[in-house]
Amino acid sequence: MTDDRAPSAPAADGFPPTPGSLDPEALRRRALDALLTARARTATLTDSVEDGELTAQHSPLMSPLVWDLAHIGNQEEQWLLRAVGGRQALRPEIDGLYDAFEHPRSARPSLPLLAPAEARTYASDVRGRALDILEAAPLHEGGRPLERAGFAFGMIAQHEQQHDETMLITHQLRSGPAALTAPAPPDPTDAGSLPGEVLVPAGPFTMGTSAEPWALDNERPAHRREVAAFHLDTSPVTCGAYQRFMADGGYTDPRWWAPEGWDMVREHGLTAPLFWHRDAGQWLRRRFGVTEPVPEDEPVLHVSWYEADAYARWAGRRLPTESEWEKAARHDPATGRSLRYPWGDTDPTPEHANLGQRHLRPARAGAYPAGRAPSGAGQLIGDVWEWTSSDFLPYPGFVAFPYREYSDVFFGPGHKVLRGGSFAVDQVACRGTFRNWDLPVRRQIFSGFRTARDA
Ligand code: AVJ
Ligand code: FE
Repeated sequence: MTDDRAPSAPAADGFPPTPGSLDPEALRRRALDALLTARARTATLTDSVEDGELTAQHSPLMSPLVWDLAHIGNQEEQWLLRAVGGRQALRPEIDGLYDAFEHPRSARPSLPLLAPAEARTYASDVRGRALDILEAAPLHEGGRPLERAGFAFGMIAQHEQQHDETMLITHQLRSGPAALTAPAPPDPTDAGSLPGEVLVPAGPFTMGTSAEPWALDNERPAHRREVAAFHLDTSPVTCGAYQRFMADGGYTDPRWWAPEGWDMVREHGLTAPLFWHRDAGQWLRRRFGVTEPVPEDEPVLHVSWYEADAYARWAGRRLPTESEWEKAARHDPATGRSLRYPWGDTDPTPEHANLGQRHLRPARAGAYPAGRAPSGAGQLIGDVWEWTSSDFLPYPGFVAFPYREYSDVFFGPGHKVLRGGSFAVDQVACRGTFRNWDLPVRRQIFSGFRTARDA
């Protein structure tokens, strides 16, 4: 499959490619590593529960885990085996079952899905062939758009990681004892001395990217944006701060809520973030099968856009726009260019950010001092997805690639943009330009927020 409308790779961002990032052999190793990392995580998520739990539907909002598993294999087959490798379909009769647009999540358990053992065999058969294709694929500049810089391989590793996050959400929604464990994230070192907010002065910056080899279509192209001066919270809003909103009648006063948000509060009787409940005068939460007191200084999780918006209004503030968020995360006033990550152009390490399901919770506000941006804001990458005030819209010059159903069909006022990634996002699917989106009512996702105000 070729597509002449594919983004080319001009260096308009102003950032140099990372060392070796356009060298075909470095990209081949990077792609192999990303595919293996994703598959190890998929195995953790699907081998940690009994087969009966793989085929069960834990929430009408989610697919059975076994659907995600075979869908991961099927997407890989379509893009790496058929589109890149020119191979025949292994099992053409199953494509429809694993097409997310043909069957809503609530209907997936009643489909004749591959059983767990079959789904595992299918995904691993596909993988074996995909690695053969990767070994021989020409990844050089000027090659076919899907292969150039290993794009299709990077896209498929990101796709698997995105479904791994989806499966982790299913793990959070399931009942019963814990199936997953992980060590606690690092504590903050100097949280007490951090200012509550940072000032981002007025001026243009470069938003999006045209140079990042595996950036997805909606992150492209790089373009200039004017942003007025604003203040932004140094850290995401914490559970303690959110409880002050709750204690001040936040969920009972329509003044703070967008009209549709107030409708949602009344229809569902909302009083707290998802997974919280009150017991003997204390707020507790259920987190991956464990019930525990809500931690005061950890970023709040599992709030909808409407709740984030209401909190911000109550606090006399507002959600940041997507451009404000990205400028605070990437703009380097010393050089005038936009960084790949808040801390610079180098890939994340465990010192920079809470990513990759290494921990099963966000780190406390003030953690990851090495990950801070030139603006002074911290924890922009990892920990919690951050709701912005912005609708999910294409950048000027957007070109759908390689398929309209990734981004294009979701553009519009129905979806709000989330930025920065959560503890459940792998680094291959997270960077300063990465855009996520969801409906403003969604709360099962690993969503939090920070607030802003005009300067
Ligand atoms: C970008 C996270 C909204 O999970 O619906 C997975 C990613 N697209 N398979 C989603 C995606 C196709 C997508 N999000
Ligand atoms: Fe998918």
